[in-house]
Amino acid sequence: MNSSRYTHGSLDLNTANLPSHVAIIMDGNGRWAKKRLLNRIKGHEKGSETVRTIIRTCRELKIPVLTLYAFSTENWQRPKLEVAALMTLLKKFLESEQKEMIDNNIRLNAIGQIDLLPQNVYQSLKKVMDLTKKNNGLILNLALSYGGRAEIVKMVREIAQKMKDGLINSDSITPELVSEHLYTRGMPDPDLLIRTSGEMRISNFLLWQIAYAEIFITDTLWPDFSKEEFITILKNYQLRDRRFGKVVP
Ligand code: IPE
Ligand code: IPE
Ligand code: MG
Repeated sequence: MNSSRYTHGSLDLNTANLPSHVAIIMDGNGRWAKKRLLNRIKGHEKGSETVRTIIRTCRELKIPVLTLYAFSTENWQRPKLEVAALMTLLKKFLESEQKEMIDNNIRLNAIGQIDLLPQNVYQSLKKVMDLTKKNNGLILNLALSYGGRAEIVKMVREIAQKMKDGLINSDSITPELVSEHLYTRGMPDPDLLIRTSGEMRISNFLLWQIAYAEIFITDTLWPDFSKEEFITILKNYQLRDRRFGKVVP
């Protein structure tokens, strides 16, 4: 009985019915900094501490997959200085977390057009992905230079090529085949999608995969998002009635 419960302070969570995949739109770093009259970069720095906390919590809870939206295809249009600072921060993060990921059986996987990342960041990323590729604990997907539409275009191109090569015909195109051609192939779709800082939008994130995700939007800005709030959201998720279009008796 006890083994299926997780306690944190006054919070008590049943670990038997947790999501298989949690996806998070980590938003609000800029507003967090602005509120404190700080540079937006400070908000991103503080946000990376929250990333660490949430990864640890997922690992402790044995959640199989965590996908974090860290940088979108649209984010390339931000001021050069901010993009550069985000890239530097990403590189630092990969270097500082490498050991923790190896020691804790975490498999790092990147989703998105990672070839567009600066060369040095790309190399750090590849290195940690390579060092952790045999791990079979938490899969940590970092969405980097990620866009849901670009992912769908990539999938369509790959399937079109297979048809052209005579490997498949149009009847072979099923939802399963589509999923096989997305960055998340082989992984369960997100059961829970969290967005911080209150915006009621998807911002081009995992468009196909979130078809039946439970959505939770909190006003908390990402740097202020805590383990307590995460656990509270997981408890709320467990109370949702997931009908998948059916009538539940
Ligand atoms: C999220 O915080 C981080 C990234 C998109 C890289 P924002 O930078 O979008 O913060 P706000 O939305 O301006 O507050
Ligand atoms: C979404 O946040 C992208 C990431 C969290 C990486 P944005 O701040 O870029 O999204 P919009 O501009 O509010 O849609
Ligand atoms: Mg934002």
